[in-house]
Amino acid sequence: MDAFKVKENIYWVGAIDWNLRDFHGYSTDRGGTYNAYLIIDEKITLIDNVYAPFASEMISRIKSVIDPSKIDIIISNHSEPDHSGSIHEVLKYAPNAKIYASGPAGVKSMVGTYHDIKVIPVKTDEVVNIGKRDLKFIQTPLVHWPDNMVTYSAYDKILFSNDMLGQHIASFKRFDDEYELEFLLDELKKYYANIVLPYGAQTQKALTAVRKLDIELIATSHGAIWRSHIKEALDLYEKMSTYQKVNKAVVVYDSMWGSTEKLALEIAESFDQASIQTLVRNVRKTPLSDIISDLTDASYIAVGSPTLNNGLMPSMAAFLCYLKGLNPRNLSYLVFGSFGWGGQGVTLATKELEEMGFKQIVEPIRVQYAPSAEQVKVIKKDITDTLLKLQSK
Ligand code: FEO
Repeated sequence: MDAFKVKENIYWVGAIDWNLRDFHGYSTDRGGTYNAYLIIDEKITLIDNVYAPFASEMISRIKSVIDPSKIDIIISNHSEPDHSGSIHEVLKYAPNAKIYASGPAGVKSMVGTYHDIKVIPVKTDEVVNIGKRDLKFIQTPLVHWPDNMVTYSAYDKILFSNDMLGQHIASFKRFDDEYELEFLLDELKKYYANIVLPYGAQTQKALTAVRKLDIELIATSHGAIWRSHIKEALDLYEKMSTYQKVNKAVVVYDSMWGSTEKLALEIAESFDQASIQTLVRNVRKTPLSDIISDLTDASYIAVGSPTLNNGLMPSMAAFLCYLKGLNPRNLSYLVFGSFGWGGQGVTLATKELEEMGFKQIVEPIRVQYAPSAEQVKVIKKDITDTLLKLQSK
C-alpha cells in the first residue's frame, strides 16, 4: 500500500480500519483510521504508529517512501494501543530508533505496555531537532489519557494532534475539505462526546496552547486532517469543553410492554410544547454513543425505565453507567417509568442522576401498569408548566 503525501516530505502512513464497529464501547459505524506520519528530514521520523493488526499496512506504506530501517526517531504522542501497538514491528526494522514520549506518564505507560523498550521523556516546550525541523512537544494530559501530548513543526506549520480533534471515519479522504463540513463536525462531536467529554478543563488548557501556534494543518491520529476548517473544529471543541448548551431535551428510555414508551412519547411532547427541541431515544434501538453525542449540547434529559426484577432494565443500567463515566455537566433531569409492583426502577435511575449532579425538574413519575388518559394529561401539564416557568426565569 502507498503512503499519502500530506505536504513536502511529510507522508500519511497510517491504516484504514474499514471494519471497526466498536471502539471499546463507542459504536463506530463508519469505521476508523489510525493515522501515522512519516517526516523525511536528516533524521527520518515516524509520528505515532497504528493498532497492531494493521502493522503490515503501515510498514508497506512506509516502504513506498523509504526503507523502514532508516527510521531514526519515533515520536509516541500517546501510548493507547491504537497509536502505539506496532512499536515492536517498527523496532524490528529500526532497532536503534530513539523513542520519545511525554514524561513521566507516556514513558511509564509505553514501558508498562511494551516492556523491553527504552523511551526518552519529553515535556512541554522541549524540542527535538531532526534536521531542518525542530519538533516541539506540548503535553496535553487527559486529552485523552494522562500521557497525551501533541507535536508541532513550525517549519511546516503543522500540528500532530493525536486524539485531539479526531473523528472515527474509514475513508480514502485525508483532508477536511473533502467532506461536507456538517458531517465532519458531527463526527468530531461524537468523537469528543465519547472519548474526551470527561476532560473539559484539560481540553481548555490544550486549546489555549494550540491557539498560540501558527498552524496550517492539524494532522490528527483519527480521521481527516484539518486544513480548511481549523477554526470551525477548534470552535466546536471550545463549545464542548466549556459544556455550552442549547435549548434541547433528550428523552431516553426502555420499555417492557409499551407503558414506559407511551410515557416517553407523551413526555417528549411536553418538552416540545415548552418550545424545547426534543429527541427521543430508545436505548435498545440507538447505540449508547450516539445518545451521548445527542446529549452533549442538551440542557435536559428525561430517563424512563420500567422495573425489572426489583431493578432497572439492564439496557438502562448500562446507559446510566456509560453516561456517569463520561461525567456530563449542566443537565436538568426528570425520571419516569411504569411498574407492576415495587417500582424500584425509577428510584434507582433517580439515584444515579442525582449522583451525576443533575438538577431535578419534577418529582419522579411512577405509573402502575399502563398510564391512563387522565394520568397522562396531569403528567404532561405538570412538566410543560414547570418547563415554561423555568425558562421564564
Ligand atoms: Fe486514539 Fe486515546 O486513543
